[in-house]
Amino acid sequence: MEDLETWLERVYDSDGDHAKLNRLYNEWADDYDQQLWASGNPYIAIATGFAGRHIQNFDAAILDAGCGTGNMAQILNQMGYRSIDGLDPSEGMLKIARNKNIYQSLHRLYLDAEINLLDASYDAIVAAGVLTHGHAPPESLDGMLKIVKTDGVIIFSLSEIAYNDYGFASKMAELENNHSWALLDRSNLFRTYPFSNREAHLRHWVYAYRKTVN
Ligand SMILES: C[S@@+](CC[C@H](N)C(=O)[O-])C[C@H]1O[C@@H](n2cnc3c(N)ncnc32)[C@H](O)[C@@H]1O
Repeated sequence: MEDLETWLERVYDSDGDHAKLNRLYNEWADDYDQQLWASGNPYIAIATGFAGRHIQNFDAAILDAGCGTGNMAQILNQMGYRSIDGLDPSEGMLKIARNKNIYQSLHRLYLDAEINLLDASYDAIVAAGVLTHGHAPPESLDGMLKIVKTDGVIIFSLSEIAYNDYGFASKMAELENNHSWALLDRSNLFRTYPFSNREAHLRHWVYAYRKTVN
């Protein structure tokens, strides 16, 4: 089994190439859960904490965007949330997610400015580990705002690199300035992989926003 750092190196090497990244996640899928939890990455813990704080209704229609193998939804399901859909481009990851029997529907789609799902159809969207270099671009935030209802909640982890160097800072400021959304919560900056010296530079936040009428 390749170790976490080798997989991460392949993620960085794919450098935004959809086909390469997809192939990689298809190959990683079987070992992904064990390596994610062993990595000590806290983003799912914080994002599910924010969900508990900001999504009061257990019947809320939630989209787990970039759901991967379903780790975030598994915790949400264990917390009592009953209506969760998932979206991910990797069939290998979706296959593991499907076998967990926690999703109402799973969609093989990318996050982008145009997400091919019904407008204003979700009460909340969660996205863990997806808004980062080479994965979903800043325009994904437009797509999420399109499919979430007014007053709906969007919770996502965001890498420091994506915020500073890949256009998220300006996109997030634009959405705040044009009153598309309002900030509900932001975690402290935390180390993404606390046990890895090689990844010591990598840090994330978790954010929660509410969609406002603009
Ligand atoms: C680091 S994994 C996170 C999976 C899951 N959310 C978790 O926390 O366990 C990133 C996932 O994002 C998916 N992904 C990559 N690019 C994407 C995009 N543009 N839109 C949606 N998902 C994407 C990958 O297929 C992969 O399953």
